[in-house]
Amino acid sequence: MPGTGRRGGPPAASVSAVEGGYPPVPVPGIVSETDGTSVRLRPVAEPDLAMFRRFCTEPGLVGLDWGGFRDPGAPVRRFAADGWLGEDDGRLVVEAGTDATAAGFVSYRAGRYAPSATYWEIGIALLPQWRGRGVGWRAQALLCDYLFAHTPVQRIQAGTHPENIPEQRALEKAGFRLEGVIRACEFRAGRWRDGHLYSRLRDDPSPWE
Ligand SMILES: CC(C)(COP(=O)(O)OP(=O)(O)OC[C@H]1O[C@@H](n2cnc3c(N)ncnc32)[C@H](O)[C@@H]1OP(=O)(O)O)[C@@H](O)C(=O)NCCC(=O)NCCS
Repeated sequence: MPGTGRRGGPPAASVSAVEGGYPPVPVPGIVSETDGTSVRLRPVAEPDLAMFRRFCTEPGLVGLDWGGFRDPGAPVRRFAADGWLGEDDGRLVVEAGTDATAAGFVSYRAGRYAPSATYWEIGIALLPQWRGRGVGWRAQALLCDYLFAHTPVQRIQAGTHPENIPEQRALEKAGFRLEGVIRACEFRAGRWRDGHLYSRLRDDPSPWE
């Protein structure tokens, strides 16, 4: 059982020091400590911007979502504009391990099926050395806790690639269910490709329980 000791309710708060900052910057976050694995989500801080620049310019670092080089100045501008905590989209840094290393990020973007039916679409990218260590499913489960606690949405969705078995497994472990195949939904690596759409509803069972 992957429980955190938390059973429902708002995410637990914690404070960590952002690496590379001097003096260390105390940043509040939400945390999961389960089965010896520590994962925390916190707002982006200035020392994280080097990691975000890497995702813009290192081919494939972001995984199958790599779509070519992106403006490496964009992370600095976005951080200056709103700390990457916008009303309609945002990012949180994923920290992992006992020394709270920045392991990657999670993202969320607002969508709408009808005027009163808004939802969040989430995403994630971990640095390669943090993949396959139980961080990804926990980070996405924590992001759901965070979004369900602070916004009234009923639905959180996530898309992934048919060949992305790690993300399909991670989403299922984070409480998502497969809804179906979205045909030709992305142009990637030279051709249009199908995607798999997953969702988790507010009332779906929590993966922590
Ligand atoms: C996809 C990603 C977020 C998954 O997170 P992760 O930390 O690697 O996955 P976890 O360690 O939490 O594992 C979750 C499940 O997937 C399985 N899994 C992980 N890596 C796997 C692999 N390479 N092959 C098969 N299964 C794998 C795990 O075994 C676990 O299932 P289990 O408990 O039933 O064994 C991460 O690998 C990543 O950032 N990849 C690059 C970016 C990306 O693909 N983002 C998603 C775009 S849609």
